[in-house]
Amino acid sequence: MTEIIDGKVASQDVVAEVKRLSAELAVSGGTPGLAVVIVGEDPASQVYVASKSRMASECGFHSVQYSLSSDTSENELVDLVCKLNFDPQIHGILVQLPLPSQIDTGRIIQAIAPEKDVDGFNFINVGKVGTGELGTAFIPCTPAGAMLLIERVRGKDLTGLNAVVVGRSNIVGKPMASLLLAANCTVTIAHRHTRDLATITRTADILVVAVGKPELVKGDWVKPGATVIDVGINRVPALADGTRRTTLVGDVDFGAVKRSAGAITPVPGGVGPMTIAMLMANTLVSAYRAVG
Ligand code: GUN
Repeated sequence: MTEIIDGKVASQDVVAEVKRLSAELAVSGGTPGLAVVIVGEDPASQVYVASKSRMASECGFHSVQYSLSSDTSENELVDLVCKLNFDPQIHGILVQLPLPSQIDTGRIIQAIAPEKDVDGFNFINVGKVGTGELGTAFIPCTPAGAMLLIERVRGKDLTGLNAVVVGRSNIVGKPMASLLLAANCTVTIAHRHTRDLATITRTADILVVAVGKPELVKGDWVKPGATVIDVGINRVPALADGTRRTTLVGDVDFGAVKRSAGAITPVPGGVGPMTIAMLMANTLVSAYRAVG
C-alpha cells in the first residue's frame, strides 16, 4: 500500500512543539520575534505572507508585518532590514520574494544579518548548509520540511540510498541536495538540460521534484517503493468541457505515481504546510540562540 505522506499532520506536530518551547522561552522574557516584509501587491505573495504572520502569532511570537508599496527603493528596503537587524525584539527577518524589478534581490538577502536569516538564503547560511555545518545554520524552510517528511517515512538513517533531486534552484533544489548528501545519500541533481530524465528518476529511492512544471513526473518514471516528495504547486486552468475547475497540481502526476511509489506527498497538503512550520522552528531556534 502506498503511503500518502500527510504534511498537515507533520506540520501540526512541528508547530505544537514550537508553541511549547516558545511559551517556555517567553517565561524568561525571550519571546521570539518574526518580521515579515512584503513589497508590492502580488496576490500570491500576500496570501503567503499573511499566513506566515498569522502562524507566528499563533505560536505566541511577537509578529510584525511590513507591507511596502511597489515603488519602494532598494535603499529604503536596505534601511528597514538594517533597522530590524538591530532590533532586539526581532529574531527572524523574512523578505518575501520575488521583489519588484528596481530592487537587487541579492543585495537585500545579503543585508539580512545571518543570525536572523530564518529563510537561510544569505551566503553564510548557504555556505554552512553546503559544507554540512547544519548545527549552526538556518536551513531553508522548504528543503528542511521535505527532509522531515522523508525521515518520517524512511527513518533518520538514509545512508546509501539513491536520491534524485529534480530542480536546481537556490531555494529548494541545491539545499535539498546538500541535506541529502549530508545524510549520506548518493545524490543526483537533474535540471532542464538533463538528458533522459526518466532514466535518472527511475534510479531514485528518494525522489524530490521542484521545477514548477505541472505533472512532469509520470507513473513509469518512478521505481517501485520509492519515496516521492513533490514540491511543485502549480495552478492549472479549468477544462473547457467543465470536467475540471481551476485546481492545484504538483510536479508529479499524483494519480499515476501513487500506484508505484512506496510513499508520496499530495499537493496541496504535502510539503506546503511544512514550509511555514519550519519558518516557525527557525525563528524559535534564533530566539534560543539570542538568549544564549
Ligand atoms: N517566495 C517563495 N518562497 C519563498 C520563501 O521560502 N521565502 C521567501 N522569503 N520568499 C519566498
